[in-house]
Amino acid sequence: MKILGIESSCDETGIAIYDTDQGLVADQLYSQIELHAQYGGVVPELASRDHVRKIVPLIEQACEEAGLTLDDLDGIAYTSGPGLIGALLVGACVGRSVAWALDKPAIEIHHMEGHLLAPLLEDDKPEFPFLSLLVSGGHTLLVDVQALGEYKILGDTLDDAAGEAFDKTAKLLGLPYPGGRYIAELATQGDNTRFKFPRPMMNRPGLDFSFSGLKTFTRVTWETEVELCSNDEEKQKLKADIAACFELAVTDTLSKKCVRAIKQTGLKSLVIAGGVSANVALREMLSTLGQKHRFKPFFPSPKYCTDNGAMIAFAGAMRMAANQYASYGEATIKAYPRWNLEQLS
Ligand code: KG4
Ligand code: ZN
Repeated sequence: MKILGIESSCDETGIAIYDTDQGLVADQLYSQIELHAQYGGVVPELASRDHVRKIVPLIEQACEEAGLTLDDLDGIAYTSGPGLIGALLVGACVGRSVAWALDKPAIEIHHMEGHLLAPLLEDDKPEFPFLSLLVSGGHTLLVDVQALGEYKILGDTLDDAAGEAFDKTAKLLGLPYPGGRYIAELATQGDNTRFKFPRPMMNRPGLDFSFSGLKTFTRVTWETEVELCSNDEEKQKLKADIAACFELAVTDTLSKKCVRAIKQTGLKSLVIAGGVSANVALREMLSTLGQKHRFKPFFPSPKYCTDNGAMIAFAGAMRMAANQYASYGEATIKAYPRWNLEQLS
């Protein structure tokens, strides 16, 4: 079975083809980062327009890469939410139209389900059930994954998502957008013991997260300390130390909540996915804690941590194989800017 996957929920146009016999046979990605960088964040209308420009050429390139024609496909999977409505609609319109024209099933995929299943693309993959930490620019979720489509949210963020906190801190320190990987790079040169940043919600029971207090603490620390710097070198050192202390506070909070959830559920595997799962410090911390608390962490390879078409093609293939998808007879095009992961069946 060959499934075309279309991802267009934010600022990446991802197109891939997953073959259930051969694995991933095409993987095309176009990132709009340069387009949005000058604005310091994603401009939704520009994102939609750029998806319109890129989506069809990328589908053609994916077919060429796989040596297939559209007729060879068995289904079209596309991200139908959550995300930016205009951006989602581009993928949904193209995906459903292609499916309709070919008289093949169209499969709506929840973006976070795509992230959650991405580690299953690897050779060393987890088996159901597992715990999943989904950390992206828009979400911070701890999910009990019993089986495909059986998702129970154990923890959520009350305000900013983990990736959003990274991006806002990067902006404060004058780093490019999206700032997660720049904070991580800078943090390697910093002293993570110079300041004691708060660990939000750690001394309360439960598995929810909150990053806005940490964001404020970071801002106040930067504004206070930068006044005391007498030259550029000291300022650069301060930036690196703040990046390191901030990264440690976020990774420590995320990791400890994972351990708490592992103890609470008795699950033995932890899947970490979404853009922030590319963070090396987080990976190292969870690997160490896994040995201590006897759980096995699974990470997607870095290119499948951030948004991509492969995870959508793969999720589509899993849903089709399990006969778990909604396919409308007529050309009904739907996109959901908000969509509860627990309500997928
Ligand atoms: O999953 P993703 O590509 O898009 C959304 O669905 O939001 O995640 C993007 C987020 C951004 O906030 C970005 O700064 C963050 O992932 N990110 C990182 C790293 N690489 C990307 N955060 C921390 N460390 C990284 N190495
Ligand atoms: Zn994402």
